[in-house]
Amino acid sequence: MQDFIYQVDTKILFGHDQLRNLSKEIKKYGNRVLICYGGGSIKKSGLYDKVIKELEENDIFYKELWDIEPNPRVESVKRGVEIVKKHSLNFILPVGGGSVIDCAKLVAAGAKVETDPWKIVIGEEIVKEALPIGAILTIAATGSEMDKASVITNVKTKQKLGWASKHVLPKFAIMNPEYTYTVPKYHTSAGVADIMSHTMENYFSLNDGCYMQDRMAEGILKTMIKYGPIAYNDPENYEARANIMWSNSWAINGLLGSGKSTAWSVHAMEHELSAYYDITHGIGLAILTPRWLKHVLNNETVEKIATFGKNVFEIEETSDKFEDANKAIDALYKFFKDEMHIPMTLQELDIDETHLRDMAKATIRHKNGPIKGFQTLQEEDVYEIYKMSL
Ligand code: NZQ
Ligand code: ZN
Repeated sequence: MQDFIYQVDTKILFGHDQLRNLSKEIKKYGNRVLICYGGGSIKKSGLYDKVIKELEENDIFYKELWDIEPNPRVESVKRGVEIVKKHSLNFILPVGGGSVIDCAKLVAAGAKVETDPWKIVIGEEIVKEALPIGAILTIAATGSEMDKASVITNVKTKQKLGWASKHVLPKFAIMNPEYTYTVPKYHTSAGVADIMSHTMENYFSLNDGCYMQDRMAEGILKTMIKYGPIAYNDPENYEARANIMWSNSWAINGLLGSGKSTAWSVHAMEHELSAYYDITHGIGLAILTPRWLKHVLNNETVEKIATFGKNVFEIEETSDKFEDANKAIDALYKFFKDEMHIPMTLQELDIDETHLRDMAKATIRHKNGPIKGFQTLQEEDVYEIYKMSL
């Protein structure tokens, strides 16, 4: 296990009745709030009204940034920064999913500089400070409420890029599994796939001596396999929604990747799919992951993939490790397809060969060279994995 420093001090307020703590938590940091939300799901569900009531009853001044897109765009960030500056706001309150929280993070950092916030995303402007953020999570997927990362899309340059700063780690997150009851089936499945992908990106590494992290990862994957289909079929099942929601945070908050080098391979490839075709992140991950595992299966990786099959899918061990590993990959594919009803080919998302080569090139370019993950991926490998996914 490599040396590491771990500090994630987001306060989590989990469960049914935590919204009553909202104003108290905000007032520790500010009293002039930018509420950020997406295309209206929080208005339909009634959560918007509850948040507004809580702020108004506690004399908290607020302005709103809405219509934040799934795969949030830098233009939305700029709108947010403008509102913050115009009204001297001092606290950012995203109410939504990863897209809303990621946008809010760049607003929080962008409000502290005079330059174009896109420069932060491409690393030309270093974040030295940010406005404090508190998140109200409405969909379990990205773990953005408890991590330092944010992913922003620039449609003009066809780029969807991640950036991270400790300054945008949310101060607190309100996580009520009931808020996720209204998440559509498609996005419930995409969220489960995203959580599993974060876990697998951390899990699939070689000989790192991180036994404990790997057993925790298997626990999260088993949780998804148990509760993903329940949430899909019975959206108001509290136990399922709660287990998925809490897993969503721990898949990506640094615990599983501590003590390891993990270059995330599938996410790098998926971000190009989203950048070119604006697809749902988790769906792209579900399609790519089994193909990636097939592509990297070799003498070096077979043991780990077979272990994954045994510990996560309870596949009986045989004397043939390759057979075991292939069964594991097939089980993962079947889970996504048969249990979570995810379209498992790119063609089903209307993606054909046209941009595969460009996306493969962009994947490598955005990683500044080959992806040195579970196995090193060159442009040709990425291209091959895209082709296998058609
Ligand atoms: O916009 P609204 O109307 O709110 O609808 C959203 C959106 O259409 C809807 N939704 C959310 N909560 C709902 C709901 N509908 C009904 N009831 C609710 N309670 O779901 C749709 C998807 O929302 P979005 O926020 O886009 O989903 P998600 O949380 O999966 O976020 C995806 C974004 O996060 C990035 C992805 O790349 C993508 O841009 N990621 C962020 C990461 C991070 N910050 O660490 C890591 C991830 O790997 C990922 O890359
Ligand atoms: Zn993800």
